[in-house]
Amino acid sequence: MRRPLIAANWKMNAAPSGAFDADSPYRGTSSVDAWVFASFLDVRACTEAKVIAGGQYGRTEPNGAFTGDVSMHLLKQAGCHAVLCGHSERRAHHGETDAMVAAQAIAALETGLHPVVCVGETLEERQAGHAKSVVKKQLHALPLDSDLTIAYEPVWAIGTGVTASPEEAQEMHSYIRSLLPAEKRESTRILYGGSLKPASAPELLKQPDIDGGLVGGASLEPKAFAELVAMAATAKQA
Ligand code: PGA
Repeated sequence: MRRPLIAANWKMNAAPSGAFDADSPYRGTSSVDAWVFASFLDVRACTEAKVIAGGQYGRTEPNGAFTGDVSMHLLKQAGCHAVLCGHSERRAHHGETDAMVAAQAIAALETGLHPVVCVGETLEERQAGHAKSVVKKQLHALPLDSDLTIAYEPVWAIGTGVTASPEEAQEMHSYIRSLLPAEKRESTRILYGGSLKPASAPELLKQPDIDGGLVGGASLEPKAFAELVAMAATAKQA
């Protein structure tokens, strides 16, 4: 019942060449949604090319004297459908706390943007046996009775080439689902993120509580991204 979603996170990189061509893989297919979290500079090019776009961050105030920032309001005006909230790189480099991430998610909802909220533990937290309690705390700050997408991104797997095993990821995804309010439990999409690549994707995407992926590095290669979209369709067909 949950349509698979493969979301590209281009981070601070230019749009890959061919991303806006007629045969762009970034438009998804009849059975798999594709969204692109582009740099702010490429958001309009996405929407003009009918690629579903998202911002990688949005400020809660609609406008004002905040040099260098972009607001949820401006993202919406530029045609964005969604926005990332609390990516671990924002939490690490910009000091975003659980409360700030929750405020962003609420502002996004009020602006008509769909929040994709990132949660996940660091290596130290996992090794200390705290992975679930960290994720639970991150989740409980959020307006979980709203329409959100959750991205589980173990920090130790992002950009490292190490992916969570399908069993580790499924265990956390099922735990996350169990923490959602009953009325949202079956409908909320929970994406896996962290070095998702065509080699590791089929087994991960087959897991019952993994509804797609948030993809960084591999999303910059159109061919790899197209493979991930096709793999999501296959994994969820059975
Ligand atoms: P990665 O990034 O696929 O390069 O690990 C994922 C993310 O940060 O969303």
